Amino acid sequence: MAMRALLSRKTLTSALLNEPKPMGLGLAAAQCYRGLQTFTLPNLDYDYGALEPAISGEIMQLHHQKHHQTYVTNYNKAIEQLQDALAKGDATTTVKLQGAIKFNGGADLLSTNHLPTGHINHSIFWKNLTPVREGGGEPPKSSLGWAIDTHFGSLEALIQKMNAEGAALQGSGWVWLGLDKELKRLVVETTANQDPLVTKGPSLVPLLGIDVWEHAYYLQYKNVRPDYLKNVWKVINWKYASEVYEKESS
Ligand SMILES: [Fe+2]
Repeated sequence: MAMRALLSRKTLTSALLNEPKPMGLGLAAAQCYRGLQTFTLPNLDYDYGALEPAISGEIMQLHHQKHHQTYVTNYNKAIEQLQDALAKGDATTTVKLQGAIKFNGGADLLSTNHLPTGHINHSIFWKNLTPVREGGGEPPKSSLGWAIDTHFGSLEALIQKMNAEGAALQGSGWVWLGLDKELKRLVVETTANQDPLVTKGPSLVPLLGIDVWEHAYYLQYKNVRPDYLKNVWKVINWKYASEVYEKESS
């Protein structure tokens, strides 16, 4: 998965693998030992103000430096606490930490999939945006363009569908364009909070994710989420989505 490149080089895995397993945590703990990693905030490929007027520089700076950084910081903190709890064989604390780890990182340590996909949600989002002068908003070409026409009728129809579903999402969350690798078709889905797209199906791969938390738009659009959704398409990086589609559908 491309997002693996975003992972920090600092990993707790190798050190933990050499430690004795705590009593009483069983298979789940053993799985945790193989998956624990800490993360760093990825850099953006553009300046904070480069997406204006669609998204203000102030929003981008706060969203990246404060919100995303907080997810990374809290996730890393929870991972370190979990490491400590596992070393002590403290099952109660291990279970309690699940909530913080899932929210900030999006990973369920008691599952076999430890990818920190909540942090990755934002990392994908930054890649899904690009300044107009660098191709932001330019419609997808080649195979993704054809696939969108086939599954949704047109790019405009897809945008309307994602805008409608994103606007209708209660509370905070994400609206996604995904590829169902098993059924070989494009899908539009929403997820609540920081849940990753894969929670809607194990064969779903995110091509494009739009953050519809208020922190993504409130300073500029106030409570009018539909206006944010209308304008965000002017800076969508379809080239990136097309590259992911080519790779995942081949
Ligand atoms: Fe966000």
